[in-house]
Amino acid sequence: MTASLEQLRRCHFAVDLGAARTRVYVRGAGLVVDQPSVAAVNTRSGALIAVGDFAERMRGRTPAHIRVVRPVSGGTVVDIEMAQRMLRGLLGDRLRRALRRKPFLRAAACTPHEADPLARRAAVETLVGLGARRVELVDTLIAAAVGCGLPVQQPEATMIMACGTATTQVAVLSLGSTVSSERIPVGGEAVDHAIVQHLRHQHELMLPSQSVRPLHVALSGIGLTAQGPTSTEIRGRDVVTGLVRSVQVDTAAVREAIETPLTAVVDVIGRVLRECPPDLVADLVDRGIMLVGGSALLPGLDEMVRQATGMPVHIAERPDVCAVQGLGYMLEGRIEPLALGPIVI
Ligand SMILES: Nc1ncnc2c1ncn2[C@@H]1O[C@H](COP(=O)(O)OP(=O)(O)OP(=O)(O)O)[C@@H](O)[C@H]1O
Ligand SMILES: [Mg+2]
Repeated sequence: MTASLEQLRRCHFAVDLGAARTRVYVRGAGLVVDQPSVAAVNTRSGALIAVGDFAERMRGRTPAHIRVVRPVSGGTVVDIEMAQRMLRGLLGDRLRRALRRKPFLRAAACTPHEADPLARRAAVETLVGLGARRVELVDTLIAAAVGCGLPVQQPEATMIMACGTATTQVAVLSLGSTVSSERIPVGGEAVDHAIVQHLRHQHELMLPSQSVRPLHVALSGIGLTAQGPTSTEIRGRDVVTGLVRSVQVDTAAVREAIETPLTAVVDVIGRVLRECPPDLVADLVDRGIMLVGGSALLPGLDEMVRQATGMPVHIAERPDVCAVQGLGYMLEGRIEPLALGPIVI
């Protein structure tokens, strides 16, 4: 990380291409884009119709000739061309022109921890297509740790858990890099899926595709936590009749339904801690775990981690934008590099 901090300082913009949302930070301007990673295409002409929020609203409501696609999956760009078109759309003409005016455009992007070479290549290609002459890649976990103000460069342990859409990544960081880490393919999506399956099996109710993702967001207001009310009303389509119906859903049963994915998430922490040297674990007992990523907002997740590990658990102030914020801090030169070069005597 120290080696590339110099390079990062020279970047003009930073991109976090997430499975759910795309975020762009422009040096000097701040966070300029935070929209769903979605594009709507006309399959007859191949033209791009909409991107971001508007395209997301179209999902599940399109006629046959319009297709709503997600060019990023599990933190990896799976359709480079579409990702470029989506990014161009999200940036807009004015911003794109401003960036293009730079004589040697440099970009930064964050990639999932231990991303394979193909995934890294895809991230680079996407930004090169946008006009970047050089692309710096940063580990999402390090970017997020910087973004939420953890002292990553210090010789002390910090533990971070990034709860994303399709993956959860946990790592212990010290001296600007990862000491032990793990990534599992379980994230907010798996929790959504568990809730949808529960409603289908127990109440024979199908949710419209738009409410699948934000369902637990809707539930959070009235409480998925044990302190919340015991039931809540959900509206959906009856599996058999196809008619709209609303049911009273028992929140305790929903909590039980999402236990499997959440247990998998909590188990990772134990495995990462077991691999970690004892000195660092001792640091962590006081400092605790920092939760970042949109799914960190899942009500009750922090309490669950607290109970399972006995360690203090904190949720970052803006968990969803931590990674891009961290990239932004690096671009703006707000992070002091720790000189780890050889000592000259
Ligand atoms: N308030 C909330 N409560 C519960 N879950 C939430 C909330 N807000 C967002 N989420 C969930 O967080 C996830 C999105 O998180 P985030 O914005 O970090 O995704 P991303 O960066 O695009 O994904 P990834 O980093 O995995 O590629 C989604 O699964 C969404 O359902
Ligand atoms: Mg992310």
